[in-house]
Amino acid sequence: MLSLLVLISGGGSNLRALLEASSDPGYPARVIAVGSDTEADGLAHAEEFQIPSFTVLPTAFESRAAWGDELLAQIDRWSPDLVVCAGFMRILPPAVVTALAPRIINTHPALLPAFPGAHAVRDALAAGARTTGVTVHVIDEGVDTGPVIVQREIAVLPGDTEHELHERIKVVERELLVQAVRDIAEGLVDLKETAAR
Ligand code: GAR
Repeated sequence: MLSLLVLISGGGSNLRALLEASSDPGYPARVIAVGSDTEADGLAHAEEFQIPSFTVLPTAFESRAAWGDELLAQIDRWSPDLVVCAGFMRILPPAVVTALAPRIINTHPALLPAFPGAHAVRDALAAGARTTGVTVHVIDEGVDTGPVIVQREIAVLPGDTEHELHERIKVVERELLVQAVRDIAEGLVDLKETAAR
C-alpha cells in the first residue's frame, strides 16, 4: 500500500478525488496526511475523511528556506511513500525538493512545457490556444519543469471563460491523478526511471 501525503492550497477537489479513491479497498494507495501553506478550504475534505492535516504558514518564518525546513519536518513526521502536490501554489525551496525527489509529484492544468506557473489556464486563453490539457509530473527544482508522467489534451471551446475551462480541465485532472498514483503504486510507473529522463 502506497502512503500519500497531499499538499494543497485551495479547494482541494483533487485531494478529494484521492481521498475517495483511498476509500476503495481495491485502490493501492492511501492518503495518510494533508498539508497546506494556507487555511485552505480543501482542509475540510481531510477532516471529513478523518485524515490528519497541518498548515505551515510562510508568514510565520523569516525566510522561504526556514519555511521549507518546517514543511519538510512536518512531512517527514509521516514518512509518506509519495508526496502529491495537488493545487499546492507555492514553489518549494530546493532543499525540500532534493530531500523528497523523486517521491514528489505535481498536477498542473496545462500541457507542460506550455503554460507553466500559477495562471496556466488564464495564460492558455490569453495565448489563443485551441487545446490545452493537464500534466502529472515528477517535481524537480524548476517551476513545472520536471519529467512528465502522463498528459491529457483538452479542447478550448469558443467563448470559454477561465473558470469554465479550468472546471473542464479539473474533471479530467482528477481522473488522471488518481490513475497516475495507481500506476506508481502498482509499479507501472517507476519514479526513479521517470526522474532520470
Ligand atoms: C488544479 O487544477 C491544479 O492543477 C492547479 O490548481 C488546481 C487546484 O484545484 N495547480 C496549479 O495551477 C499549480 N501550478 P483543486 O484545489 O480543486 O484540487
